[in-house]
Amino acid sequence: MAYTIKVNGKPRTVDVEGDTPLLWVLRDVLDMKGSKFGCGMALCGACTVHIDGQATRSCVTPISAVGAASVTTIEGVGATPVGKKVQAAWTEIDVPQCGYCQAGQIMSATALLTKTPKPTDADIDAAMQGNICRCATYGRIRAAPWGSRLSGAVAFGVSRSSSMIRPSYRRWAGRRPS
Ligand code: FES
Ligand code: FES
Repeated sequence: MAYTIKVNGKPRTVDVEGDTPLLWVLRDVLDMKGSKFGCGMALCGACTVHIDGQATRSCVTPISAVGAASVTTIEGVGATPVGKKVQAAWTEIDVPQCGYCQAGQIMSATALLTKTPKPTDADIDAAMQGNICRCATYGRIRAAPWGSRLSGAVAFGVSRSSSMIRPSYRRWAGRRPS
C-alpha cells in the first residue's frame, strides 16, 4: 500500500505494508541511514526521530500510524534552530565515541530543549534515560547542551525479553534493517 509521509519537510511516498516500522522505511526504503537500529523494542533509543516534535522510537512506530504528522530525522534536525545548537554543542564537546547511539541522543535532547529551554535535572533524566550508550558517553552528554547534569538514572541494562516485543513487530524482530 502506498503511504505519503512528510520527512524533514518533504513529502515522501513509499509502497510498504502498514505495519512496517518507520525505521525500516527510513533506512531501507528512503535510504536515510542516520537513525539506527539497536533493539527493535523501544528500549535503547538509537532509532529516535521526532514526530510532530515529539521524540519517538521509530522501530516500534508503524508507518500506518504516522499519517499527516511531520517526521524529523537526524538528517534534518540541524535545520531547526535548537537542533543546530545541540549538534554544535555535541561537536564542540566531542561527545561521540563509536557514535552508534548519538543520533538518538541528539534527537531526544533536541526534543526536550525545544519544549523546555531550561530543563531541570529531572526533566533531563526523564527525556534522556531511555537513550542507552554502550560506550558510556554519559559524562559528555551531561556536559553538552544544558551545562547541567544527568543523574544516575541513565540505565545501562537492556532487557531482551521476547515477551516485550509487540505482536505486530514479531515478524520484523528477527531482521535488522540494513
Ligand atoms: S532500536 Fe528503537 S529503541 Fe532501540
Ligand atoms: S557512542 Fe558508542 S554507543 Fe554511544
